[in-house]
Amino acid sequence: HKRIGILTSGGDCAGLNAVIRAVVNRAVGTYSWEVLGIRQATLGLMQQPPKYIALDVEKVNSLLTAGGTVLGTTNKGNPFAYPMADGGVCDRSEEIIAGYRQLNLDALIGIGGDGSLAILRRLAQQGGINLVAIPKTIDNDVGVTELSIGFETAVSIATEALDRLHFTAASHNRVMILEVMGRDAGHIAISAGIAGGADVILIPEIPYTLDQVCRNIKERQEQGKNYCLIVVSEAVRNETGDSVVSTDRFGECRYGGIGQYLADEICHRIGAETRVTVLGHIQRGGTPSPLERLIASAFGVAAVDLIAEQKYDQMVTWQNRQVVSVSIADAIAQYRAVDPQGTLVKTARGLNICLGD
Ligand code: F6P
Repeated sequence: HKRIGILTSGGDCAGLNAVIRAVVNRAVGTYSWEVLGIRQATLGLMQQPPKYIALDVEKVNSLLTAGGTVLGTTNKGNPFAYPMADGGVCDRSEEIIAGYRQLNLDALIGIGGDGSLAILRRLAQQGGINLVAIPKTIDNDVGVTELSIGFETAVSIATEALDRLHFTAASHNRVMILEVMGRDAGHIAISAGIAGGADVILIPEIPYTLDQVCRNIKERQEQGKNYCLIVVSEAVRNETGDSVVSTDRFGECRYGGIGQYLADEICHRIGAETRVTVLGHIQRGGTPSPLERLIASAFGVAAVDLIAEQKYDQMVTWQNRQVVSVSIADAIAQYRAVDPQGTLVKTARGLNICLGD
């Protein structure tokens, strides 16, 4: 018999609840273990007493299609540099380790992106926590795994947005710009751009020039196509090389605004009528796509099986339609950007999509 914890950390996305369901089905349904769902990532373990929900098969029954995470999550409050009221920071890692011990957990499944997983691993090393990791991020930038939870659904949402923008762009002869998420990586932009038939795709991995983008729009006009669909990843820099960012109330920088910058510049340079759609958190919400549910289910089952085999400090990954476990350290050491020589970039070029270079 084992008692395991599960937590979701970092930004939410579609597919998290499907992972939770799979973990509970495997751990409780197959092995008759107990599963405690830790509330709000590591914050739940910091509370006194620690905050959790005891999960059983019935409770997770309807979670396959539900967006978000029933456990709650946060991407604030790194426990090693936890923000204090006076503006300083303090190390609260030992409180989390104490919370894990207080709950008598044999192992912990942590679902997160590279930032969260690095923190969880550090906690695990420091406190002897038996950690198994599941990669999650719409940005799809966690190393080694071909897919992380959340990405596939985000791509389908961005693709659907392009499908819709097509018609309105054509009706008004406009240049429509869709700004998508991705933090530092262009995976969502390049994937949705190809799938959604964009004319121009701008990603941070390939520097663009406005001259090239404007030339491309003009050429298309000369060939009789009077509208243009542009997908731009939020982390693309403006022409002077600066990121377009705003600062939130925690003083953290948030990307966003490159779409409007491009719209203004293109309008100014070639007189095209431009409109911007910022897709934002719509990409993270809602029902997971079928492939997302499949991967979430496979990752959930595989993570529990790793614990059954007492293989810790491992992350499940998706490689060639198989779940393969790798060391967490290896995965987080290998950031995964879009490969400028890879298949998707070659495909986009082969389709004569302008990448701005
Ligand atoms: O990492 C996921 C992500 O959605 C990024 O694509 C985006 O830059 C960021 O999180 C937004 O964070 P927040 O939800 O805190 O605004």
